[in-house]
Amino acid sequence: MYVLGIETSCDETAASVVRDGEAVLSNVVSSSLKEHKKYGGIIPEIASRMHLESIAGVVDCAVKEAGVKLKNIKLVSVTSGPGLAGSLLVGISFAKSLSLGVGVPFLGVDHLASHIYANFLNAQVLRMPFVALIVSGGHTSLFYVKDFDKIDILGRTCDDACGEAFDKVAKILRLGYPGGPVIERLAKSGNPRKFQFRCSNANRPLDFSFSGIKTAVLYSVRKYPQAGSQFVRDVAASFQEAAIDTLINKSLLACELKKTKRLVIGGGVAANNRLREKLYSEGGKNGLDIFFPPPKLCLDNAAMVAGLGYQLFRKGHRSGLDLNMQGG
Ligand code: KG4
Ligand code: ZN
Repeated sequence: MYVLGIETSCDETAASVVRDGEAVLSNVVSSSLKEHKKYGGIIPEIASRMHLESIAGVVDCAVKEAGVKLKNIKLVSVTSGPGLAGSLLVGISFAKSLSLGVGVPFLGVDHLASHIYANFLNAQVLRMPFVALIVSGGHTSLFYVKDFDKIDILGRTCDDACGEAFDKVAKILRLGYPGGPVIERLAKSGNPRKFQFRCSNANRPLDFSFSGIKTAVLYSVRKYPQAGSQFVRDVAASFQEAAIDTLINKSLLACELKKTKRLVIGGGVAANNRLREKLYSEGGKNGLDIFFPPPKLCLDNAAMVAGLGYQLFRKGHRSGLDLNMQGG
């Protein structure tokens, strides 16, 4: 069964055709990132306007690249939230119109659940239940996944998301937006033990807090205003190490509490190689099986939306034309 996925929750306009929930036949992503760069972050108004300009072309391209005809698509699956309200509305409205035009059902799916689903694409063998850590620019959450439609939240961030902290630290260091990839690159030649940054403790053991560490970075930078490029590398490395350590410690604790040996990661920060290598090593010591999607499927994409839509559709889930977006 061919499913068309549409994702417009942030700055990426994405469309993908996936066969039977696992074979990714096309994965088209058009980002409006460069339009936002000069502002140092995503501007919602610009994002929604760019979605409107791109969406028809992106969907057309995804269908053609997959080598299928629109009439072969049996379901349209679309991100219904969380995300930017105006951006989500573009994707949802397009999906509704397309499903009406082609005469097939459509389904709204949760963005975080689809980040988890990225781990099932391309025939990855993964059994439920498991603990999932979703780390992105807008979210940092731990889940216990029993089934595609039975996902319990175990913990979340009380303030900034982890990706947001990477972005804000990069802004403080004047490295541009988005922060994750550039911090990762500079951290490779920095000393992670130069600064004693640490993430603050949240009230509940599986919740996260990233706003304190961002402020600690700000104070260090203010203290040494003339510092050179090695200083920037050391700050980047020390911040990255502390952020990664808190992600790992809480994920391992969640696995221990839920008595599971399977840990699944997703979201933009999951593209970080230091997180990958450290989690494989720490998780290995604890006898855990660790799952990451390939880097391209960690970032926002529509293949994960199509895949999850397929599974939920098989379980009887449907959306009506009254489907609204869930912002936030
Ligand atoms: O999942 P995503 O593409 O969009 C959201 O749903 O937010 O994640 C984007 C976030 C940004 O904050 C970006 O800085 C971060 O993921 N990111 C990274 C890396 N690549 C992207 N963070 C750390 N290391 C990376 N290599
Ligand atoms: Zn995302």
